[in-house]
Amino acid sequence: MCGIIGITAKTDALSAIVSGLKALEYRGYDSAGVAFFGKNGLRIVKAVGRVSALEEKLGEETTTCGISHTRWATHGEVCEKNCHPHVSFGGACMLVHNGVIENYAELKKYLLEKGVTCSTDTDSEIIAHLYELLCDGDPVTTLGRVANALEGSYAIALLSALHKGEIFAVRRSSPLVIGRRDNASLLASDVTALPNAELYYLEEGRVARLWAEGVDVMGKRFHSNAIQSLSAPDKNGYDTFMLKEIYEQPQAIARTIADIPKKGRIKGEALLLGCGSSYHAGLACIPLVEKCTGRHAEALLASEFICSHALPANGQTAILLSQSGETADTLSACAEAKKRGYKTVGITNVETSSLARAVDENRFTKAGAEIAVATTKGFTTQIVALAGLFVKDEESLRALHSLPTLAEKVVRLSEKTAELVHIFLSAKCVFFIGRKSDYGVALEGALKFKEITYIPSIGLASGELKHGSISLIEKGSPVVVVCADGKLIAKTLLSVATVKARGGVTVAVTCFEEVATACDYALRLPALPADLSPAITVIPLQMLSYYVATALRRDVDKPRNLAKSVTVE
Ligand code: M6R
Repeated sequence: MCGIIGITAKTDALSAIVSGLKALEYRGYDSAGVAFFGKNGLRIVKAVGRVSALEEKLGEETTTCGISHTRWATHGEVCEKNCHPHVSFGGACMLVHNGVIENYAELKKYLLEKGVTCSTDTDSEIIAHLYELLCDGDPVTTLGRVANALEGSYAIALLSALHKGEIFAVRRSSPLVIGRRDNASLLASDVTALPNAELYYLEEGRVARLWAEGVDVMGKRFHSNAIQSLSAPDKNGYDTFMLKEIYEQPQAIARTIADIPKKGRIKGEALLLGCGSSYHAGLACIPLVEKCTGRHAEALLASEFICSHALPANGQTAILLSQSGETADTLSACAEAKKRGYKTVGITNVETSSLARAVDENRFTKAGAEIAVATTKGFTTQIVALAGLFVKDEESLRALHSLPTLAEKVVRLSEKTAELVHIFLSAKCVFFIGRKSDYGVALEGALKFKEITYIPSIGLASGELKHGSISLIEKGSPVVVVCADGKLIAKTLLSVATVKARGGVTVAVTCFEEVATACDYALRLPALPADLSPAITVIPLQMLSYYVATALRRDVDKPRNLAKSVTVE
C-alpha cells in the first residue's frame, strides 16, 4: 500500500529518494510523487504509473532535502491531482500521508467555513490546509496540534517552506521509521526502504524533526533504540522475487523450526485471526490445533472478528497471524481481542512491526524479507510457527522436523507443474478443492492463482462443491484436488468422480496413488504428516500459479491493484 520515503542530507538526496521509492514498489501503488527544496524554493513533481515515470520527469533535478510517496488510491481516482505530495492553500507546506483520516468530512467542512477549498479528492490534502491554518511559526508544535485534530490512522512527513533542509513527521496507527546513515537523516514507512541504516521507531503522536546532522523528537535529541537495518534485498539470479521466495522455503521453514522455544505451549481454546493468506494459514492449522489441545479451535477473518458480537473471552488465547505485522484489520482485531479479555499471541515475520509491539507474547516466523506481493514463504513459515505453539508429543515434533527435507523435495517436484500450464491458460474459472487442512490449502491455492494470473478461481471445501458452485463446472473446467490425509481418500474420490462426470479436468496434488490415478493429471507427493501437510501441499499450488502467470506475461511480483501490506481497514 502507500509508501513514504524522505531524506535530508549534506549532499544530493534525490537519487537516494528515488531508490527508496523503488524499494517501496513491492508494496503496491498506482502513482508516485516527490516534494523537495529546489533552487527557487519548494517543488513538486508527480507521475501516474511506475516510479520510473517519475524518475524521467525529475530529469537533472537535484536537492538535499525531499519527501516522496507511492500512492495506492483509497479516496479519489488514480490521477496526478490526487497523487501525493499535497500542498497547503498558501504554499506554507507540502506533505505526504499514509493512512485514512476518519473525520475528513468534518474537517473539510471546517476548512470551507474558513474559506479554504480542497482541490483534490483525497483525505490527505486537508492535513496540509489545516497545518497552514493552525501554523504558529514552529512546525513541531503546529504539526502536534494538527495531529490532535485528526482521527484515524496517519504517518505524515512534511516540508515547511520556511524551514529549508528540515523534515517534520508524526504518526499514529501507521508505521514510520527514522534512520541515520552517512550524514543523512531518513524516514520511511517500511524498513525495506532504509537499508544499512541505524533505525529509530517513532512513538505514536510524537513529532520528529530531521535535518542532515541529526534527529530530535519534541526537542529531545533522538538516539535511543538504535537497530541496524539489513542490506537491500535482491533477486539472487532469479527472474522474480516470487520464484526466489518459493525456492527459499526449505531454509525459511528450517529457521522457523529452530526458533521454536522448548516451552510455552498453548493448552486451552484458541482463536486464530488473520487476513488473506494469514487467515488461510490459521484455517489450515485448525485440525492440528484441535488435536494437540483436545479443545475447540476456530479461525476467523480479522475483519469479521472486529464486527462480531463482543462476547467476552473465556480463557481463550487469540493468535494473530500477520506476515507484515502492519495489516490494519489484524491490528484492530488485536485491540478488540484485548478489549474482550483474550490473551494475545502474535505470529509475524517482522520483529519491529506494530503487531509485535501490540501483543502480549510473540512468536516470529524466520522467513527473511518477503518482497513479492503474493506470499509464499510467509504462509509456509506461519504454519510452522503455529505448529510450534501447540505440538509437544515426540511423534509430532519429529514430523515437524521432517518438514525442511520434505519442502526441499516438493519444491523440486513442483517444477513439473510447468507441464500443466496449458490446462489453465484459457479457463474461465479454476477450482481448488480439499477437506480439513487441505481446505485451507485450497483457499490459499485459489487466492495465489487469482492474484497473480487474474483468472477467476474459487477455493472450496470439497463437500461444498455440490451445494452450488458445481453449476460453474463445464467441459474443460480445471479442478485442482488437494488430498494429503489418508482418512479422506474415499470422500476425495467421490468429489473427483462428481467433477469428471460434468467434464471437469481434475489435477491431483496428493500423496495417495488412488487419488492420483483417479484424476486426469497428478502431482505425486511423498508421504506427509497430514496435520502439518499445509506447509508442503501449498508449494505446488504456488509454483503452478507462478508458471501460469508468467505464461500470461503478468507482473508476478507486483500484481495489479494489490498491496503487500494492507494498512487500511
Ligand atoms: O501481512 P499480512 O500477513 O497481515 O497480510 C495479510 C494479507 O493481506 C496477505 O496475506 C495477502 O492475502 C497475501 N499477500 C496474498 O498473497
